[in-house]
Amino acid sequence: MYGMVHRAIRQMASERLGPTGWSIIERDAGSGPAEFISLCIYDDSRTMALLSSAARQLELDMDSALRMLGRYWVRYAEQGSFAAIMDFTGHDLVSFIGNLDRMHDAVRMAMPDARVPSFQVVDSHPGGLRVRYTSEREGLTMFVIGLFEALLDRMGERGSVTPVSGPGNAAEFVIALERD
Ligand code: HEM
Repeated sequence: MYGMVHRAIRQMASERLGPTGWSIIERDAGSGPAEFISLCIYDDSRTMALLSSAARQLELDMDSALRMLGRYWVRYAEQGSFAAIMDFTGHDLVSFIGNLDRMHDAVRMAMPDARVPSFQVVDSHPGGLRVRYTSEREGLTMFVIGLFEALLDRMGERGSVTPVSGPGNAAEFVIALERD
């Protein structure tokens, strides 16, 4: 994945463990400064090696680390040069998720080799929505859950996110909203 993702992992872990904790992670993953260039692309195995070393130091299993990174990613994107894109994408959950593919298209102008996922809102009603997720990658379910949880926070909503399987085994997520 792009170095931007590695930088998010570094910032997330450093905030929790400080620079000494981070240097242990880097050493453990056999990583160095050359792997943190935002616009360079690295093999996914390097991204997972970094996250798995971070998980060890954070005393988390890999699923919890993926979820934490998903939650962190939204805040990370809000801080940087992509903040405006996040704002344009939508101000409620259904329109934001419905516009995610367009948002990633915009991201690919800066990062043309990004292999971005696709999201489709397949059902929405006042109690929640159902979203189909299509990706070239496997094993990111917990990352997606963390992303949707952070989007709920961003929209000032409360709710739960559950992975389900759609037609033909498509990966889908049910986002149930809590209403007072
Ligand atoms: C401005 C905000 C965002 C930026 C700049 C951004 C950018 C990126 C980049 C660079 C990648 C890595 C692709 C690669 O290196 O091949 C990625 C992957 C991904 N993004 Fe985004 N993204 C943003 C917001 C979001 C949001 C809000 C979601 C979902 C709710 C999302 C879902 C994902 C997922 C699930 C992946 C993993 C790739 C996969 O599933 O195959 N992104 N994004």
